[in-house]
Amino acid sequence: MEKKKIKIFDTTLRDGEQVPGCKLNTQKKLKIAKKLELLGVDVIEAGFPISSPGDYYSVQEISKSISEPIICALSRALEKDIEIAGDSLKYAKKSRIHTGIGTSDCHIRYKFNSTREKIMERAILSVRYAKKFVEDVEFYAEDAGRTDNIFLAKICEYVIKNGATVINIPDTTGYCLPEEYGEKIRFLMENVHGIHKIELSTHCHNDLGLATANSLSGIMNGAKQVECTINGIGERAGNTSLEEIVMIINQNPNLNLFTNIKTKLIFQTSDLVSKCTGMKVQANKAIVGINAFSHSSGIHQDGILKKRETYESINPKDVGSHDFSIVLTARSGRAALAYRYQKLGYFLNKNSLELVYSIFLNYADKKKEIVDKELEIILKEANLEKDKLFHHENDHSIVEKNKLNVV
Ligand code: KIV
Ligand code: ZN
Repeated sequence: MEKKKIKIFDTTLRDGEQVPGCKLNTQKKLKIAKKLELLGVDVIEAGFPISSPGDYYSVQEISKSISEPIICALSRALEKDIEIAGDSLKYAKKSRIHTGIGTSDCHIRYKFNSTREKIMERAILSVRYAKKFVEDVEFYAEDAGRTDNIFLAKICEYVIKNGATVINIPDTTGYCLPEEYGEKIRFLMENVHGIHKIELSTHCHNDLGLATANSLSGIMNGAKQVECTINGIGERAGNTSLEEIVMIINQNPNLNLFTNIKTKLIFQTSDLVSKCTGMKVQANKAIVGINAFSHSSGIHQDGILKKRETYESINPKDVGSHDFSIVLTARSGRAALAYRYQKLGYFLNKNSLELVYSIFLNYADKKKEIVDKELEIILKEANLEKDKLFHHENDHSIVEKNKLNVV
């Protein structure tokens, strides 16, 4: 069966940038947009142009300098928003307006003090108006996660009739369970007239840590586009992280899906976004955290040194990361210690290792992590020169001797 393509809609520069303390200027936005183009994303949501002159300018500059991905600008379902979004995109080679409105009863009642009928009318008018500026119009049903499915299906049907090319089903508050979100997408796929003319898109927030699981459930039930951000940054607990959803698709051939992402550029893109936004990546973040390929317990270290696959399901090289690292703690074993000494050029034989390991444990019990400098100190303390306990048959013994002045 032929693999189906899942489009990657990156919203790092819009939803991602909505994080407190993460304002990006045009220069930084451009730098990230260029990297996203190299990474192979299909759509770059470049900003929300009505929100500020700076954001308008950023969308315009990105439109001028990016060729391959579609450049998308966000708007509310308001004529002025849509006009400004359309104008900011005038230099884009491929442009899209992303317009929409809250569709849950909670949003309709408390945000808009309105009715379902009036919201439906605004949805239709906004899509029609956006079509005056661009051919490609994506409609978002904000808070679709908590929107009644029958009403959501009706809105979808009407916006399709009025020209929407993509419909975004955001789980704005990260409310849904994966099964529930998947069922919502399936319900729309099965009940909306004209749904096969357009593409459904997932846009899942991470309030319960389910953003990636929900996006996956969405694409397994018919969505063709995933909205996501690098490092999962975004409002509150963030969005679906690009690296997670892309690697899930990559690692699971049974899904029969593919994306255009050049996975070897993931790590450097993550690093660039982290540096530009000042948002540190949590150490245990999947795929791009500094601990994602670090091993510290003796059992794992022993396994990984025998065969990487024993404790890693992803090859760090596939995401452009450094090779696995062996972190030395009081939980580390002899194999890990010997490996780290080898990296420093010391090849310890069995007796040497035994002695050095007992000294190492004394140090490790007092410290979180033992680093190279301390390994050298431990070796000196073991006083191996006198005992000549190195593995002399090994070619590297020369290096050892030179290093320790053992002659
Ligand atoms: O989370 C959300 O609902 C959004 C929309 C504006 C697309 O970001
Ligand atoms: Zn969002």
